[in-house]
Amino acid sequence: MNTIAQTRKMFIVAGARPNFMKIAPIVRELQRGSYPFEYRIVHTGQHYDKEMSDVFFEELEIPAPDYHLDVGSGSHAEQTAKVMVRFEEICLRDRPDLVMVVGDVNSTLACSIVAKKLGVKVAHVEAGLRSGDITMPEEVNRIVTDSISDYFFVTEKSGVSHLLAEGKPKDGIFFVGHVMIDNLFHQVEKLKRLPQSAFETTLFKQKHPSYGVVTLHRPSNVDRPETLAGIVGALTEVSKALPLIFPVHPRTQGNLEKFGLTIPDSIVTTKPLSYMEFLNLFKDARMVLTDSGGIQEETTALGIPCITLRENTERPITVEEGTNVIVGADPARIVAAARKVLSGAGADCRKPEFWDGNAAGRILKALTDAMGAGR
Ligand code: UD1
Repeated sequence: MNTIAQTRKMFIVAGARPNFMKIAPIVRELQRGSYPFEYRIVHTGQHYDKEMSDVFFEELEIPAPDYHLDVGSGSHAEQTAKVMVRFEEICLRDRPDLVMVVGDVNSTLACSIVAKKLGVKVAHVEAGLRSGDITMPEEVNRIVTDSISDYFFVTEKSGVSHLLAEGKPKDGIFFVGHVMIDNLFHQVEKLKRLPQSAFETTLFKQKHPSYGVVTLHRPSNVDRPETLAGIVGALTEVSKALPLIFPVHPRTQGNLEKFGLTIPDSIVTTKPLSYMEFLNLFKDARMVLTDSGGIQEETTALGIPCITLRENTERPITVEEGTNVIVGADPARIVAAARKVLSGAGADCRKPEFWDGNAAGRILKALTDAMGAGR
């Protein structure tokens, strides 16, 4: 390993729920190993409800943020702009050498732009993923972030191909596996040591030996009444054969109320769940129906059938090697896919390369080497 003459200051940015599980293993590895980085945790405050944010810090053992930007919700422009203004202030004050951003949320985009314009190196964890669907806000965030990043940490080989095709230098691209899977395995081990009585959803599990789990929050699925009504209809149909449990995201909750849609009793709804509570639920599920990005990967890592209510995925490895099927928002396709799982037709599934719990170490070693070599 090349050594860096002096310690470098790294800002690690997280803003929204799916970021927290990605920074947790990196912070843990920094605490455990001897890396030449002094770090600050920056929480932009994109997600702010206790159950969307604080519980994750507690359960995932992430130290309290050094900076909290408290930006809250708003239009994309408002939210991104607020993060940029407040992040620039702390960068000017505390002068990082490197900003690490993860995933594809608005905070990822905003902080990478600020860093780059201040001449600070940008490391993007989960770089190179592409859905090919530019109408997705996350796709814009991914493309812009990658267009200005210096170090690209990639979870699956499709990411390497996209980055090379976009002209990124080979020596800045590191295929390291997935920090979210590092976190998953860490939490699975912790879960084994906890009693079932620690979880609110245990009652549901005891009552229903076989069940499915639903999550839904993408604007393309939940922001239009006819689309959301169609999905609720399909879930209702599935729930006649398999009881479903549905932790409802705040965006979705708001829209269900606005559109006057009701969920039948065969689908149990809950508030958003903490990481451990959700893991305890989906690890024993017969299937998961979701439009999340991360859950497609976590189900693959644990071998749980996943039905993805989207037209595409930026995570094709979960379909090629994992348990994922892509069905879109068409009610008939959703119901057919669920019936197929219930009939026992299972595809072969293997764990993707480097999804082994050691991605954070690979990232920090690669960064140490690259910065040590002056790249
Ligand atoms: C954001 C991310 C998305 C990620 C998702 C996970 C972007 C563009 N989108 O979408 O990639 O998959 O997080 O949840 O960054 N709200 C609350 N409490 C909160 C947070 C949000 O009530 O703590 C409500 C607000 O009404 C807000 C709405 O949820 O307007 C949407 O939140 P926002 O952060 O804009 O986007 P998400 O849909 O959560």
